[in-house]
Amino acid sequence: MKLGIMDQIKDPALLNAWEAMLDLQTRLLGPGEVDWLRAKGFGRGGRGVIEPGSGDGHYGSYLAQCFPDLRIHGLEANGNLIARFDAARAPSNYSIDLCTVGSDPLPVKLSGAFDQCFLRFVLQHVSDPVDLLRAVHDALPPGGRLYIIEEDHFYFAAGPAWAPYDKATSAWSRVYQAGGSDGSVGRKLPGLVTEAGFEVTDYDIVLRNNVEMGNDFLDLFCQASRVLHHTSPELLPVTELHSIHQGFQADRDSHLARFVATYPQILLSATKS
Ligand SMILES: C[S@@+](CC[C@H](N)C(=O)[O-])C[C@H]1O[C@@H](n2cnc3c(N)ncnc32)[C@H](O)[C@@H]1O
Repeated sequence: MKLGIMDQIKDPALLNAWEAMLDLQTRLLGPGEVDWLRAKGFGRGGRGVIEPGSGDGHYGSYLAQCFPDLRIHGLEANGNLIARFDAARAPSNYSIDLCTVGSDPLPVKLSGAFDQCFLRFVLQHVSDPVDLLRAVHDALPPGGRLYIIEEDHFYFAAGPAWAPYDKATSAWSRVYQAGGSDGSVGRKLPGLVTEAGFEVTDYDIVLRNNVEMGNDFLDLFCQASRVLHHTSPELLPVTELHSIHQGFQADRDSHLARFVATYPQILLSATKS
């Protein structure tokens, strides 16, 4: 199983850029996502959750704080990201183990310890998403629940044309395509989870946007551009990175009245019948 632009990343500058990105995505997007998860029954049942693709644990720690009675078991394929997880400062109901879900067996200690699975921004990087989803399906008990949060580049849109946004989103799609990550996974989710044996219960396309997010929106796209630059400097050279950042900086505060631009989130829940 290959992990697209996140496959075995180890370059310290790239790991730093990802760490800042995962932290920002957690702080800016987490509260709205948690509202959605609560409304869709996440955490009910209380037997525990597996979180394949936990990265450095920013999001899992946040989720564990939001659901203090729930045990969340992070599972991460890349030891370089786990090394950045500060277990001593994490909530006591959260931990991360090394495991490539879909290729490796799950840790034995997790047998019977969960009835839900949470996947955020993972399937977009996985070469065989149905293999991962089938492994999750096999591991869940009947009635087990699956929650997925993803993106889809098809819904990137700005009006009128906004130069730094257009540069950032086209670099995003360029680097994903070259690196084997899938920017169109959001619209494929219902088909993928059904193929793996699940029954879809909720599917929402949420267009977060600069008007409601304010300057946080600019920060998100600036940090994404840094990650993309460190991933493929030949596809997003430093001159273009600076031009994106300078463009957003010039539009700071004034963009709200001049542009509408989207950041598309796809949210799905499903059940193992
Ligand atoms: C973009 S990060 C998302 C981290 C976290 N879920 C979040 O939302 O902040 C995706 C992570 O999934 C991991 N990953 C991808 N496929 C995996 C698999 N099959 N098993 C475990 N981890 C996986 C990658 O190594 C990477 O750390």
